[in-house]
Amino acid sequence: MSTTTRVLSCIQPTGDVHLGNYLGALRNWERGQHECDAFHGIVDLHALTVTEEPGVVGEATLSLAAMLFAVGLDPDVATVFAQSHVPEHSELAWIMQCNVAYGELSRMTQFKDKTTKREGQFISAGLFTYPALQAADILLYDTAEVPVGDDQRQHIEITRDIAIRFNHRFGETFVLPEAVTPAAGARVMSLQNPTAKMSKSDDSSAGCVEIVDEPSVVMKKFKRAVTDSDTGPDAVRFDREAKPGVANLLEIHAAVTGRTPEEIAAEFEQYGALKVATGEAVLAVLDPIRTRYHELMDDRGELARLLRVGALKAREVASTTLERTHRAIGMLPA
Ligand code: TYM
Repeated sequence: MSTTTRVLSCIQPTGDVHLGNYLGALRNWERGQHECDAFHGIVDLHALTVTEEPGVVGEATLSLAAMLFAVGLDPDVATVFAQSHVPEHSELAWIMQCNVAYGELSRMTQFKDKTTKREGQFISAGLFTYPALQAADILLYDTAEVPVGDDQRQHIEITRDIAIRFNHRFGETFVLPEAVTPAAGARVMSLQNPTAKMSKSDDSSAGCVEIVDEPSVVMKKFKRAVTDSDTGPDAVRFDREAKPGVANLLEIHAAVTGRTPEEIAAEFEQYGALKVATGEAVLAVLDPIRTRYHELMDDRGELARLLRVGALKAREVASTTLERTHRAIGMLPA
């Protein structure tokens, strides 16, 4: 990767940021910002697919900006912006919708999961066409690399498929992006249901460690983490299939300490001690972020200003790509 490699990744302002978001994505955004040309969006338009109350999404956008800066994104280095401040996203999204097939969208596992979770509730058409908006987010920036958690791989694949189709129909216009997932932490599982990913919409909040959780809450969640009923000296071992709860703790521990799950397993004989040590290792990483987040939230005017600066920089790139797209299609210039 070079400083000119364009990297983009985004996060939705829905609920609080959790350990999965941090290990799967945000930490890598922070680490990568000095080695690439980084763009990071707070995708408030995506959040509208499940927003039904006024006054929520704007507040969540500001709070998420504070979290991204607290994690270490430097506004002088990375471009951090709110998606709705860059209208090119929704404009290109329509063109993307016209270049993706109904069948392709129907096969998206996230759509199937989300509609199952929302059974009996309102399911917006936006939830279905969501990947077209995500493709627009990525393709607008001539993105080479998209640092994400494992659950986003399918969305990057469909983005590539759309870009290939568009380039074939209208001539070379879009760069084909690649998903980049971290070696450790690409799929953090729920502490209560270790066969499901840790998620903001987790049935039980005890399974999801939020970055703003107070230390006592974090420790309680780790101490209550679901493991299994094995006993004996080799109960603590790394086996994702047979021992998903223990494997998840070991992987989290490994991700925050930079060691391997096997090394950590060798140091413990009992689940209780592993849970406490993992909670403490996680807190060592989260404590400074939480403190910084609260400091940044004290100056909301500054956060809003930083997002405006980010949007201006983002629009410079996005408007050029949108123009190129219109030209490729051969639309009548305005
Ligand atoms: P979102 O907002 O659900 O999640 C943000 C990032 O966190 C990662 N992540 C996880 N990683 C590891 N373990 C977990 N349990 C876990 N849960 C979440 C996600 O993989 C993601 O990287 N559709 C996207 C947002 C989006 C986007 C984009 C991403 C919109 N446009 C363009 C990249 C590029 C989403 O809902 O992420």
